[in-house]
Amino acid sequence: MENKKYYVTTPIYYPSANFHIGHCYTTVCADAIARFKKQEGYDVYFLTGSDEHGLKIEKKAEEAHVTPQEYVDKIIADAKDLWKQLNIEYNKFIRTTDDYHIETVQKIFKKLYDKGDIYKGEYKGLYCTPCESFWTETQLVDGKCPDCGREVYEVSEEAYFFKLSKYQDRLVEYIETHPEFIQPVSRKNEMINNFIKPGLEDLCVSRTTFSWGIPVSFDNKHVVYVWVDALSNYISALGYLSDDDTLFKKFWPADLHIVGKEIVRFHTIIWPSLLMALDLPLPKQVFGHGWLIINGGKISKSLGNYKDPREYIKDYGVDAVRYYLLREVPFGSDGNFSEELLINRYNTDLANTVGNLVNRTLSMLTKYFDGNIVKSDARTEFDSDLIKLVTSTKEKVESYMDKLEIPEALDSIFEIFRRCNKYIDETTPWILAKEENKDKLKTVLYNLLESIRIGAILLNAFLPDTSKEILRELNTSKVSYDDTNKFGELETDIHINDFKPIFMRMELKDE
Ligand code: MSP
Repeated sequence: MENKKYYVTTPIYYPSANFHIGHCYTTVCADAIARFKKQEGYDVYFLTGSDEHGLKIEKKAEEAHVTPQEYVDKIIADAKDLWKQLNIEYNKFIRTTDDYHIETVQKIFKKLYDKGDIYKGEYKGLYCTPCESFWTETQLVDGKCPDCGREVYEVSEEAYFFKLSKYQDRLVEYIETHPEFIQPVSRKNEMINNFIKPGLEDLCVSRTTFSWGIPVSFDNKHVVYVWVDALSNYISALGYLSDDDTLFKKFWPADLHIVGKEIVRFHTIIWPSLLMALDLPLPKQVFGHGWLIINGGKISKSLGNYKDPREYIKDYGVDAVRYYLLREVPFGSDGNFSEELLINRYNTDLANTVGNLVNRTLSMLTKYFDGNIVKSDARTEFDSDLIKLVTSTKEKVESYMDKLEIPEALDSIFEIFRRCNKYIDETTPWILAKEENKDKLKTVLYNLLESIRIGAILLNAFLPDTSKEILRELNTSKVSYDDTNKFGELETDIHINDFKPIFMRMELKDE
């Protein structure tokens, strides 16, 4: 096979509060995409991590009476545990407090300064002293600080600027000539019309009013602006400008940056301009997904409307949570999250469709053939329709995944399970058993087991534990992605493994 590579990233998260289900959304989607590409034979690199600098973190640490490093270390340890529990199979977790990242950011800053794309100037703005924040006229509320409501003062601060304006024309041209660069397309129009066309101003890329950041190597009263620091993670993680840049040479440019809609702006304006200034190729695609919302509003610590996602995993299982995140919301749109919606999804699709099918089929095999997988030449009039659907699914799933239509991809796999349940109703195996029509009964059970095997393999990128468990129960060795190309690969000289019912129906747990 030709050597195809695929580099996919999530945003790196601010550890300014514990992670919620909205954060899990991006990461689970990226994980499913990465796993899927791996299955398709790509050499995949999947990067996630944390964005740990800035005034916000400095203040949180101060409130908690710990150092910023101690503050972030605790949240990151928790986050890594959450990703583990969610079966996130990343290649690397980058922290912007890692030494190699700090060094690379300093080198990037210096390189752009030497080139003349970063210059020293004066930042003028309205300043709120207690909040240590700069504001623009339009951000003020009744002329006062929007955060604390106090007076603001006009101040000016020495700062470094990046010549963003220099890249405006090249950026517009790139976006216009690469329609796949910003997806979904509505976000592309928003970027061009609302942000770029009105005119890009040079960007202030250093601060002197707080210290929790990466010092500018040649002027260390300045720390690097947190977005320049954060965005650089996508290349510092690969060893850009380091002694060993093998990964960088292999994987850059990124194939896909998945980001939430509110940060598409940074990824499609600042990031490509920085890359152009560094003479590097641009990422192939930035996909801006929507938000998970609760009761129509933001998920937020201050609103107290979220639980630690590990609670849901504990109560409903990891694949119930992954399934909800991957299936419920069209990728790109906003969608509601509630425990009730999660349970509804679980009951209709996981319990009634897959669980019911697998449990019924394995029970029938145990009852009628002592758990031995058997086959015969007999046919029923419903076989060909079932087989046609099962064998055409892989192509459909791949085509949906190429467009990042994750819920549609997942649903087409579930179409196999729904079709199997219908096949059971059509062929009525219990009547065949009564009639002692063993040959037809063998065919029916074989077709069901074979369809389940293929469906389970296709599920692997989305619900890895469920996929593995079903394949373990079937006791088959035909478990690779390529083993889904032909119907009839399931061995007949095997006995199924012990099984316990999967996905039993659930009720909402009492608070
Ligand atoms: N640190 C920046 C990203 C830097 S990338 C170079 C950041 N961090 S964040 O923690 O605030 O958000 C991380 C990601 O989580 C963003 O893509 C954001 O959109 C996503 N989400 C945060 N809340 C979310 C929901 N409620 N729903 C879906 N995604 C959400 O931004």
